[in-house]
This record gives sequence, structure tokens and C-alpha cells, in this order.
Amino acid sequence: MAPHPEALVLRGVAFALVAVTLASVAFWGCGTKVQEGIARGHELYDTCKPCHGLNGGGSQALAAPSIAGLPQWYIEAQLNKFRSGQRGMNPADMEGHRMRPMARSLNIEGDVTSVAQYVASMTPQPAAATLTGGNVAAGEAKYTAVCAGTRGLSEATYSATDATSPAR
Ligand code: HEC
Repeated sequence: MAPHPEALVLRGVAFALVAVTLASVAFWGCGTKVQEGIARGHELYDTCKPCHGLNGGGSQALAAPSIAGLPQWYIEAQLNKFRSGQRGMNPADMEGHRMRPMARSLNIEGDVTSVAQYVASMTPQPAAATLTGGNVAAGEAKYTAVCAGTRGLSEATYSATDATSPAR
């Protein structure tokens, strides 16, 4: 028995709907959806190297800090602060002026997260101590009294207060 003409029309409509859906998925895939993750972050890190160095250890001459291995949430938070102007807007803040345009260049959705993910995955590079003639015992007493409460012991405490681990 030949199919009912209405059934044929419905079949055509269903086919067209599937085709449109597939086409839009393909378009989304190549056009608007950005590549995210460590591979993209690695690519993006090329723009950070001139100041933060190949291994993320920073440059004292440029006053660019060591960022390798900082927690991802902290890196993301700082990049977003530079982007929004919470950091790097004070006219006297020369270092911030160097960093702010770099953070603002990460303007494709997902790039802040990707580069933060990559930097967090790098091996930490503790900066060499530059202070001479300090008093370690007095420093320890001050640290315990003033900083330890905020720095806490767990990452949850750090994130809640936006404080990183100073023990790097
Ligand atoms: C032109 C030099 C320069 C480039 C390029 C640069 N930075 Fe920076 N960055 C700095 C300086 C200088 C600071 C310190 C700013 C301050 O003292 O507030 C900084 C600070 C930071 C901080 C804050 C660190 C902290 O402990 O709070 C992060 C995170 C950071 N940069 C990530 C990046 C990333 C990711 C890139 C690449 C997308 C990048 N930077 C490119 C110079 C640069």
C-alpha cells in the first residue's frame, strides 16, 4: 500500500528539521565555540612569556612576579580584576599598567580560564629571596599574629579571602 500523502509531508518536515539541527551544530562547532583548556592556554601563554618568562618564574627587572603553579582560581580572579580595572588603574601603578592590557587582550570567552589552567599546571618557580639582614624570628612572630588568620590552612580559606599560599 502506498504511504498516505500527509505521512510523506510529515516525513519531509522531520528530515528538514534534522538537517537544520545538524547544520547548526556543525556551524557552532567551527565558528562560535572556542577551543578551551590547557592546549589553548599553552598557546595563549606565548604572549605572557616576554615578562613572566618561559617557565613562569617572572622577571625582577620588569617587576613581573613568578606565577607558575599559582592556584587556578587565584590566577583567574587576578586576570578578571585587571580586566575590570579593580587592579592596574591607579596612575601611579606602573607594574599594573604593564599587566592590565595583557589581561584585557584575553577577550575571547574561555581564554581567561584556559590560560589560568595552563599557568596553574606549570611547576612552581619560587622567587629568590632579595632581602638581606632581616630578622626571621621577628618575622615569624608577626606572621603568626597578623597573617596566619587570613591565610589559614586550607584552600577553602584562601579562596574565601582571596589570599594565596605565601609558602612557595
Ligand atoms: C608586559 C609585561 C607583562 C606581560 C606580557 C604579562 N604580564 Fe602578567 N604581570 C606583569 C606585571 C608587571 C605584574 C605585576 C602587577 C602588579 O604588581 O600589580 C603582573 C601580574 C600578573 C598576575 C598577578 C600575580 C599575583 O600574584 O597577583 C598574573 C596572574 C599575571 N600577571 C598573569 C599574566 C598572564 C596570564 C599573561 C599572559 C596572558 C601576562 N601576565 C602577561 C607583567 C606582564
